[in-house]
Amino acid sequence: MDPRTNPYSPGAGVRPVELVGRDEQIESFEIVRSRAEAGRHAQSIVFYGLRGVGKTVLLNELYSNALRAGWIAAKIEADLGSDRIPFRNQVAAALNQALRQTQARGVPGRFVARVLRTFRSFSLTASPDGSFSVGIDVDPERGRADTGSILADLSDLAIDLAEAAKELGVGSVLFIDEMQHLSVEELGAVCQASHEASQRQLPFFVIGAGLPNLPGLLAEAKSYSERLFNYARIDRLNDQDAHAALVLPARDEGVEWNADGAAVVLNASGGYPYFIQQFGQTTWNAAVASPINEVDAAAGVREGWALLDVGFFRARWERATPAERDYLGAMAEDGDGPSSTGEIANRLSKKATSLGPTRAGLISKGLVYAPEHGLIAFTVPGMANFISRQVRH
Ligand SMILES: Nc1ncnc2c1ncn2[C@@H]1O[C@H](COP(=O)(O)OP(=O)(O)O)[C@@H](O)[C@H]1O
Ligand SMILES: [Mg+2]
Repeated sequence: MDPRTNPYSPGAGVRPVELVGRDEQIESFEIVRSRAEAGRHAQSIVFYGLRGVGKTVLLNELYSNALRAGWIAAKIEADLGSDRIPFRNQVAAALNQALRQTQARGVPGRFVARVLRTFRSFSLTASPDGSFSVGIDVDPERGRADTGSILADLSDLAIDLAEAAKELGVGSVLFIDEMQHLSVEELGAVCQASHEASQRQLPFFVIGAGLPNLPGLLAEAKSYSERLFNYARIDRLNDQDAHAALVLPARDEGVEWNADGAAVVLNASGGYPYFIQQFGQTTWNAAVASPINEVDAAAGVREGWALLDVGFFRARWERATPAERDYLGAMAEDGDGPSSTGEIANRLSKKATSLGPTRAGLISKGLVYAPEHGLIAFTVPGMANFISRQVRH
């Protein structure tokens, strides 16, 4: 089939032609939105799940819904590593755009004028050269959001954002992707900002997404985080939705899948959105004519795994040090797991305590997480098989 009309979209955060199986999550934000606009209390939301289940795509969808509704909305992706962009700078950069749009709505009311000044203090504290407040030419609000401590300053900013949003008849929302990369202090600041706004009945919300360790990290940062957020696990698609994700994009192009062909791809994908897109794409390219059949699908799945090996899996593998790779190799013996940390120590003939730093390194790189005390699991579905394939070849 013609690759030029290929309707599948493997890739981090790439919006699929058919966004299936997420109606409940989309609706949960609609509820927050209408409750907030009616002056009712609503909870912030945290989505968590493995890599490739569609968290980023979902967050982007909600972000565009928020913008369409005229909300003051900003989105950031938390950064990992020693040369990471500080959280404050990311927030300042993302809000700059949102607030320039707010400013363009006409003569600002009292609270809109105030948040522009507070934002200017916040962003000048991030970068005294004013690079984050370009286009927002107001005097900074002295003594507001300018202590340099993110804990205090984010709360000031959130409250003033919410007051301004309320004045405009909307709400304000900060979307944070890869939220598990925030430091304990930054997570604490996010919690405190939401908490303070909520106590004042003001519409400021955080919609976060991250790996399965995120709820635990939030609980460590602030004990009340459990009550603050509505936690929702994002998982693989059920059979019906997975089928729709595969078949509908082709149908839009006038192409059908026969039942056996679809079954081969859906089986191999295990319902993971990323794999459906990948195998859908390679099978489409391998197919000669509609309907796409099981022979096309077998070739497409083979090619799909090869591409995942050099991209999706290898990108993660290459982040690990040699010692971390040994650890991952020992985990892979349990398939997709989870594995017992004690058992891994046995396999590596090491003491469990001496492997602590290795495990911590893998967790902070986002390659593994601890589903429960004493257990460890891959954040990337299919990683165990990938590792076994590396060992064999
Ligand atoms: N609901 C969905 N239906 C079909 N495909 C999806 C869905 N959500 C995500 N995808 C696809 O899955 C892949 C991974 O999505 P992404 O949002 O990057 O996942 P995550 O952020 O959880 O790692 C992308 O190729 C995307 O097009
Ligand atoms: Mg993502």
